[in-house]
Amino acid sequence: MHSQYPERMPSNKGRLLLLHGPNLNLLGTREPAIYGTATLADHVARATKAAEALGYGVDSEQSNDLAVLIALVHHAAGKYQGIVLNAGAFTHFAWSLHDALKSVGLPVVEVHLSNPAAREPWRHESVVAPVAIGSIAGFGGTSYVLAIEALVRHLDHQ
Ligand code: DQA
Repeated sequence: MHSQYPERMPSNKGRLLLLHGPNLNLLGTREPAIYGTATLADHVARATKAAEALGYGVDSEQSNDLAVLIALVHHAAGKYQGIVLNAGAFTHFAWSLHDALKSVGLPVVEVHLSNPAAREPWRHESVVAPVAIGSIAGFGGTSYVLAIEALVRHLDHQ
């Protein structure tokens, strides 16, 4: 299959953490009209390929539990160069996740499959955005690839 990225490239610049919040394990069957039919594994595979082509390895974690996500953020310090985070609905109210991201200080790119700004009013606030270097939303699975590319550009130029 044609790919934008070469098959094998060294992942020697470091590692990125791809972090997924609640209900994203259901991608593929969850509200396909909004989130599409690709599974989380499909998105992770595509994002990982994009990162590897740019010289970074990826670890991916998903949890429906806020405490687990916070612990993963805490443990990311010193282990990862940056985080791509789709916090799901925690995006809109989980200030403890905001504080964890702020405490760790790693560069974070906020990502969403849908465009929360074009949806219900309660999705318009993001507690992740103020502690992210930037946000990418509304491009389906391509959002993850764009987020990886944005994070890598940031890391490569800092
Ligand atoms: C989402 C948008 C959130 O509002 C929602 O709660 C999700 C998914 C997205 O990727 O579009 O779970 O983060």
